[in-house]
Amino acid sequence: MATVLAIETSCDETAVAIVNNRQVLSSIVASQIPVHRRYGGVVPEVASRQHLETINELIFQALEQGSLNWREIDAVAATCAPGLVGALLVGITAAKTLAMVHEKPFLGVHHLEGHIYATYLSEPTLRPPFLSLLVSGGHTSLIYVKDCGVYETLGETRDDAAGEAFDKVARLLQLGYPGGPVIDKLAKLGNPRAYSLPEGRISLPSGGFHPYDASFSGLKTAVLRLVQQLEKYCEEMPIADIAASFQDTVARALTKRAIACAKAYNLETIAVGGGVAANSSLRKHMLDAAVTNNLKVLFPPLKYCTDNAAMIGCAAAEHFSKGHTSNLNLGVHSRLGLTEVMRLY
Ligand code: KG4
Ligand code: ZN
Repeated sequence: MATVLAIETSCDETAVAIVNNRQVLSSIVASQIPVHRRYGGVVPEVASRQHLETINELIFQALEQGSLNWREIDAVAATCAPGLVGALLVGITAAKTLAMVHEKPFLGVHHLEGHIYATYLSEPTLRPPFLSLLVSGGHTSLIYVKDCGVYETLGETRDDAAGEAFDKVARLLQLGYPGGPVIDKLAKLGNPRAYSLPEGRISLPSGGFHPYDASFSGLKTAVLRLVQQLEKYCEEMPIADIAASFQDTVARALTKRAIACAKAYNLETIAVGGGVAANSSLRKHMLDAAVTNNLKVLFPPLKYCTDNAAMIGCAAAEHFSKGHTSNLNLGVHSRLGLTEVMRLY
């Protein structure tokens, strides 16, 4: 049972956590959202500088919050891929330095593995094999989790990620950044059946549709067309109905594919992860479908859906328990497939 201090700086949250296996001893997230909001999205240079200014204080706070000292830490971990290179470098350099100074093993962690393991933080008995529905700002994938470090991608988006679609539609409706939480809130006031929008099915050359892949760029364009149409004759834009219809379409599309995939591969459990796992409509659709199809659907606690370091610590603890550690000359990767995770150890 290892105690890991973990750092996450892949995008716009600076986060530090201390995790003992699946138990969170401390977790601090300093969001940069207010800084990036005025630009309508993340500015990489600004993100790196913010991480640099915040990281040391957060490490100190995490140790203090957990009432821990360095003798009680077994390993130091940091997200090393995928993400913004400058941002990742801040976290990984801090982690390597601490590992060297305190003579602890170091582990680089794949960000998406963190999102997969976020569910472990509230499910002490969850073990592979299971299906992961990973829905974040940059990724939308169905992953067969065979073992720690052993993954097969069964389905993905051909264009925009689910979170990206939320962010783009929110921008279109002038709701600000990030789009997911504000659309989720607004959708509660709207009618999800108000407008019929395309689910983004992928045609196969042999006929029919791809059962697990999705596309969200057509849906985004459909929302744009709908807004343009409504502008012509509506005095007040029905944004709650648009938000609810859009959100419901994404949730239905994701649920349909995840359930079909779990059944085809005989996987009884689906663990949902990533920022969009916080979405109330997706949670409802998935949980309802789980009952109908006799499957188990698990979500991480809300605070561990969006980026945090507890999930990175949990993934690192799993690898560490298998004897995996990284070299101190490990670099960062802006892109790295989940199937290449074992290159990090
Ligand atoms: O996992 P995450 O924090 O960062 C990435 O690794 O990308 O996910 C961020 C994404 C953003 O696109 C954000 O709009 C979306 O997750 N998100 C949501 C909700 N909360 C965050 N999308 C839908 N509903 C939410 N409640
Ligand atoms: Zn993430």
